[in-house]
Amino acid sequence: MEAPIQLPATTDRVALYSALAPQMRELLADEHDPIAAMANFCAALHQAFGWHWVGFYRVMGAELVLGPFQGPVACSRIGHGKGVCGAAWAEERILIVPDVEKFPGHIACSPLSRSEIVVPIRDRDGHIAAVLDIDSTRPDDFSEVDGHALGRLCAQLEPLFG
Ligand code: SME
Repeated sequence: MEAPIQLPATTDRVALYSALAPQMRELLADEHDPIAAMANFCAALHQAFGWHWVGFYRVMGAELVLGPFQGPVACSRIGHGKGVCGAAWAEERILIVPDVEKFPGHIACSPLSRSEIVVPIRDRDGHIAAVLDIDSTRPDDFSEVDGHALGRLCAQLEPLFG
């Protein structure tokens, strides 16, 4: 049985990510299936930070298609350049949105979402294979600290994408 994620009793994100990183590495070790790895990855983040929605969209042709996630039901397909996820895919960079209502074209899967971060994940050839999407009910919940740490965590998944 997998050990539960253990984190220090702090709200300091740097400390939380530092404690989470080796546990995530352990959780993903020996798993070569990307769906299984993404499933546990988003469950661990959801458990660690209690965000409203944590999940993946995979690049499939001209669309992003919903992958493993934790949280309320969500839209299953997003076009290239559409919403925050599609924009992060098209621009090939991490997008941090402090106020989703001010992001033109934001796709409101949940009325409770206030801020959002999207982290693109590359395959071995350097193409975007998926995006990690996190929604928070708190406004302005994500900073460069999250972008940096989540980017490093997501890099653990990159060898799994063809
Ligand atoms: N808000 C996202 C859509 C996905 S849901 O938040 C899960 C977007 O604008 O791309």
